[in-house]
Formats: sequence, C-alpha cells, structure tokens
Amino acid sequence: MNITPLSPHIGALVEGVELADLNDGEFDVLYRAYLDHKVLFFHNQSMTPEQHMSFAKRFGQLEPVHPFFPHLEEQEQVVVIETSPGSPPSKSYWHTDLTWQSIPCRCSILHAQLCPEAGGDTIWTSMEAVWLSLTPNEQNALRRLTATHALHAFEGSRYDSVTEDGQSRVAKISTQYPPVTHPLIVRHPETGNPTVYVNEQFTREVDGLSNEESEVLLNKLYQRARLPEFQIRFSWQPGAVAIWDNLSTQHFAVTDYGDKPRRLHRVTVRGEELKSY
Ligand code: SIN
Repeated sequence: MNITPLSPHIGALVEGVELADLNDGEFDVLYRAYLDHKVLFFHNQSMTPEQHMSFAKRFGQLEPVHPFFPHLEEQEQVVVIETSPGSPPSKSYWHTDLTWQSIPCRCSILHAQLCPEAGGDTIWTSMEAVWLSLTPNEQNALRRLTATHALHAFEGSRYDSVTEDGQSRVAKISTQYPPVTHPLIVRHPETGNPTVYVNEQFTREVDGLSNEESEVLLNKLYQRARLPEFQIRFSWQPGAVAIWDNLSTQHFAVTDYGDKPRRLHRVTVRGEELKSY
C-alpha cells in the first residue's frame, strides 16, 4: 500500500489496495493514515453497496437511515447524492456531516458512481489547522464555549417538499430532532488533538453570547477554515472513494456542473459523545 500525503495539513492518496478486500493488517495501516491525514482518497474501487457498508462497519456502527436524504431501496443506510438533468444540486454549504445529532458522525465514506466530465469536486478543510492558527489567548477564550447545532438548513432545499397541509416536509421532520449542544473545541477521542467543531450549515449560535458576538466569532472561524492552505480538493472519477474524519474536518461540494449527471453513494459511521478540550 502506498500512502502519499497531498498537503501538510490534510489529505493523502492511497494506492495499491482494494477496499472491498482488505486484510486486518492493511486496515490497521489505513486507519492510522485516516487519523493522521483526516481524509483519504482512492481511485478505481469496485465496491457493491453491500461491500461499501461492510467496509464502513470496520470503522464502527453505521448511522441510522437519514431522515430525508434519498437512499438505495435495499440498502437504506447507503445515501444517494445525485444530480440529474432538471434536478441540479441545492446551494452548497461548508459542513461536517450530521452535527445536528447529539451523538455526531465519526466518519463518512463516499463512493463515486457517475461524475461530470469536469467539475463537481469536493473540498475538505482541517479544523485542527484552524485551531492551531489561533493565538493562545484566542484558544483559551474558546475552550469553555459551547454551540447549538440544528437540522434547519435543508428547508426549501431539493430534499424538501410541500406536504398535503401546505407545510415543509423537512421542517416537520426536523421537529423530531431538537437542537443539540456541542463543545466548540472538541478533544478528538482517538488522537487527543483539539479541533474547532462548528460549521456554517448546522451551527446556529455560540451559546451565551449575543447574536452579534456569536455571528462575529463564527464568521471568523468559518473564514479561517476557508484558507486554501488548510484545504485539499479532490476531482472525482467513477470508482473513486473518499473516507474522512468528521471530527477534524469540514467539507464543501463545488456545484459548478449545472445539472449534469453526478451520483455518489455515502455511508456514515456513528461517533460518540463529544468531550471538550
Ligand atoms: C457530502 O456532503 O457528503 C457530499 C459531498 C459532495 O457531494 O461532493
């Protein structure tokens, strides 16, 4: 197995492995690389949806079925992220998967099925690098804070529809998932490293601050996360796979391909209760 780092802060390309057929020794090496590089990329992986799920289970328990994302009929825990003619992607936001849950998602695994000839890349950023870029005074000020996260950003998106009584289906579903609180600075349960755990799609506010203070602080952290030196960008080809650590990263789907066909399968792995740093 060859593991080539793609930038100092985030991302590595892994070659010479078949994810559907990894032995335990190979998985241990891969897992270490996943913790070290935060997102791993693979080309030409042939994996059925069952094999995708079995591989994901090596990272932990799978997340339950998503409340409204489309999924495969037979494998409900395989989310289908799809663009087709007449159905372009919704507005894209920087985000970390499923932070609106009280127990958030540990890792996500995307497998490309169909890609536009050009465009449709995904960008990841290191939230550990964001922490390291802060001054000691800034770090100390953030350590005691918490933030509220909620499932509000999908209302009106292409995942939404109007129910018979004229209401948003997503808004109705979202009432079953009340807002949750997470530490702003999380200690990664495995590496022990601090990471800034906020994202513009699901973080509503920093608790205990005025609306204005919260907005200023969050925007400062979001701007920092957008620094190109903390990021890695991946161009998809059919068969490509990305595996990432949701605790130490955010990601962003680049929607520059109109409604050209693009289809990815996503499986997510459950994490554990977050501890502050
Ligand atoms: C995701 O946010 O999980 C999907 C990213 C993408 O469509 O590029």
